[in-house]
Amino acid sequence: MYRAAITAVGAFLPERRLTNADLERLVETSDEWIVERTGIRERRILERGKGSAYMAIKAAEMALQKRGFPPEELDLVIVATVTPEHPFPATANLVSSAIGASRAWGFDLEAACSGFIYALSIGADSIASGRVKSALIIGSDKMSSIIDYRDRTTCVIFGDGAGAVLLEPTQEEVGIMDYLHQADGNGCVHLCMKAGGSVLPPSVRTVRNRLHYVYQEGRQVFKHAVVQMAAVSEALMHRHGLSSEDVAFFVPHQANRRIIEAVAQRLGFPLERVMINIDRYGNTTCATLPLCLYDYENQLKKGDNLILATFGGGFTWGALWLRWAY
Ligand SMILES: CC(C)(COP(=O)(O)OP(=O)(O)OC[C@H]1O[C@@H](n2cnc3c(N)ncnc32)[C@H](O)[C@@H]1OP(=O)(O)O)[C@@H](O)C(=O)NCCC(=O)NCCS
Repeated sequence: MYRAAITAVGAFLPERRLTNADLERLVETSDEWIVERTGIRERRILERGKGSAYMAIKAAEMALQKRGFPPEELDLVIVATVTPEHPFPATANLVSSAIGASRAWGFDLEAACSGFIYALSIGADSIASGRVKSALIIGSDKMSSIIDYRDRTTCVIFGDGAGAVLLEPTQEEVGIMDYLHQADGNGCVHLCMKAGGSVLPPSVRTVRNRLHYVYQEGRQVFKHAVVQMAAVSEALMHRHGLSSEDVAFFVPHQANRRIIEAVAQRLGFPLERVMINIDRYGNTTCATLPLCLYDYENQLKKGDNLILATFGGGFTWGALWLRWAY
């Protein structure tokens, strides 16, 4: 049986930095509050006129180049995003054409902040089935396109960025080993974008009422994120008899440093074995996990166990166990 292994990681971060000092000029907040309550110091912001496909293409090209993998041999491209280039067609189609993945099929996957881990699971299963020989899994979000920079409770958190991983089959004991995902639509009321979909299409009224931005009840989301991320990770580790000592790194979605610390503590991971880069990028939604893998890549060695965990709007959440392949 084949297993899917990550064989390369790529990333793209826009050059422009939005610092806490910049936000102090936009809303009533302070560097001290933001750092203490979220752990974030700056985020990256993509320029106007460019969208999620632009960042996805850059991250994808980097991953392929690092591996020397010819784009025309790719079978599948999945882009996880909540900020697609257009409502349709899929961002994945635009990315495939731009990078020269001429024979690949693909689609966008929307599961809020859990998008990347869900997409990685589908890519891994496609490879394990034998039908797909290679897949690019990309998380790309231009969160600045759906953030209200008058709302201090959300604008301090989110940033833009993209990450991509290449999946190839292996018969070694490495790669995506297992996953456990869950979802609960009752969470919609706590974290959503109220307008712009089929129930409330864009209108003068929806724009005037600022309904095309991220709506978030922070405390509710915080509570669920800590409980569910810890529970699903624990259940997955228990299923395979893994303890925190067996795991080289815990790789949590980067939503708030306090959430990361609380989940790590519940699972028994010391912070030096937890991937954290939220201070530099904020919450990049579907890009946080591949950006973590990219930043920590040179600290990983073949055979290392990683537990990825996420929580996002919907609510959606999940955990994935992988063994690093190189
Ligand atoms: C949003 C979040 C940072 C707010 O932090 P918090 O500690 O929960 O703060 P609260 O919402 O309880 O608000 C506490 C006070 O700080 C204020 N506040 C909120 N944002 C602020 C800001 N940027 N600067 C200063 N004060 C702020 C609130 O208005 C509130 O004031 P009040 O007590 O006078 O009403 C936090 O709830 C969070 O990170 N939630 C999860 C978000 C998340 O994970 N989202 C993505 C899911 S994938």
